Amino acid sequence: MVDRPPYVHRRWPNYSAPKLIFWASIFAALILFIILHSPPPDFSSDRRTTTTWGSLNWERRVQTSARTRSHSPSHSAGPGHLSVLVTGAAGFVGSHVSMALKRRGDGVVGLDNFNNYYDPSLKRARQKLLERAGVFVVEGDINDTALLNKLFDIVAFTHVMHLAAQAGVRYAMKNPSSYVHSNIAGLVSLFEVCKSANPQPAVVWASSSSVYGLNTKVPFAEKDRTDQPASLYAATKKAGEEIAHTYNHIYGLSITGLRFFTVYGPWGRPDMAYFFFTKDILKGKPIPIFEAPDDHGSVARDFTYIDDIVKGCVAAIDTAEKSTGSGGKKTGTAQLRVFNLGNTSPVPVTKLVSILENLLKKKAKKNVLPMPRNGDVLFTHANISYAKKELHYKPETDLQTGLKKFVDWYLDYYGSDKKSS
Ligand SMILES: NC(=O)c1ccc[n+]([C@@H]2O[C@H](COP(=O)([O-])OP(=O)(O)OC[C@H]3O[C@@H](n4cnc5c(N)ncnc54)[C@H](O)[C@@H]3O)[C@@H](O)[C@H]2O)c1
Ligand SMILES: *[C@@H]1O[C@H](CO)[C@@H](O)[C@H](O)[C@H]1NC(C)=O
Ligand SMILES: *[C@@H]1O[C@H](CO)[C@@H](O)[C@H](O)[C@H]1NC(C)=O
Repeated sequence: MVDRPPYVHRRWPNYSAPKLIFWASIFAALILFIILHSPPPDFSSDRRTTTTWGSLNWERRVQTSARTRSHSPSHSAGPGHLSVLVTGAAGFVGSHVSMALKRRGDGVVGLDNFNNYYDPSLKRARQKLLERAGVFVVEGDINDTALLNKLFDIVAFTHVMHLAAQAGVRYAMKNPSSYVHSNIAGLVSLFEVCKSANPQPAVVWASSSSVYGLNTKVPFAEKDRTDQPASLYAATKKAGEEIAHTYNHIYGLSITGLRFFTVYGPWGRPDMAYFFFTKDILKGKPIPIFEAPDDHGSVARDFTYIDDIVKGCVAAIDTAEKSTGSGGKKTGTAQLRVFNLGNTSPVPVTKLVSILENLLKKKAKKNVLPMPRNGDVLFTHANISYAKKELHYKPETDLQTGLKKFVDWYLDYYGSDKKSS
């Protein structure tokens, strides 16, 4: 409560006419109205990024983070000599990829807006790990072209690993514009800055297995149709692939799209089934198990362990050819690729639950429901022969082994000090 200023209570001198009192009260009421109705200070990401980035100290941190381990001059920009901008670096996949690149000696600068789609404290914890490893995560939005341009002014990035996005299939019905903001507008802003950069970086970015939508021909191969998305999320990823085509065609940007299949593992995403099943089984809370219609088999996913995905991402970076454009103009045909990164071994969700029950030594309370029509597809299964051939991609972790690692992490992270997920 704001204290009423003293002058409101003061009696007006005798000579004041009732009229004056009347206008004074109107005036006071007006002031009060303005105070009560003025918007609260704006702490939105836009405002904050413009004030937090750009200082000399900030620039120095970006430069240091982008430095490769080996200082010997190398003209072959091979592993250990790259400088990579990783968007979505505080996210699940982004934090793992950043760590892997840094570990082998590449320079890595992260970018993330730390939005609250899921518990941002998990993103902050990943950021802390990265900072300890020498990766600075810039706080900002991929749709902020001024910020992106500034980053490219400071560092001649050889590669962009673009993992920032609004993820999640069901949330698209609640907040559709967040998908347009990050997966469409943000992607275009990023490509705009990349095509204008000199030299242009090669871009590797995350599409999704969800682009296969309602397809029934399995396993899903890259050449299969992708024009029947079942969610707005899937539609924005499909749009991203088409947008990538135009930036490659017009500006000579080298672009590789990776269609991830249900990635899981330590430091994973709390909105995904394996994660909240774990949480709810431990709490004794019922978990929803979706059933396919009778004639459609079971609901199954091609679960892919994070370390396998990371290897695929790094291999995509290492096999990416240089962009051909210069000063925003194409000078020759550039590489354009899209790969499935899956595990080629779909597992029914019921099996996922029984593995978790064994690992957690606790029975799940199951709430069996018909599959709602909210964007999820029944079945995913990757054909990975193209990634095998070009990236030497070879998934090595089965679901049992991977979930064990996830559960160990989960119990360690949430077990001791009661952080709530
Ligand atoms: N995890 C999966 O199973 C899976 C499957 C298919 C595709 N993908 C894709 O892989 C990528 C990484 O996914 P993830 O599982 O690590 O998700 P995530 O949500 O953990 O990571 C994304 C990160 O990007 C950040 N971000 C979102 N919008 C941003 C914006 N406008 N500006 C800056 N930062 C922003 C978020 O804060 C988050 O930290 C995403 O593009 C996602 O769509 C993931
Ligand atoms: C993205 O940024 C551009 C300016 O660079 C702005 O015009 C646009 O409104 C932004 N889009 C979204 C969806 O936030
Ligand atoms: C997988 O895709 C390749 C093309 O990349 C195709 O030749 C092969 O037949 C497919 N395999 C299956 C099992 O469908």
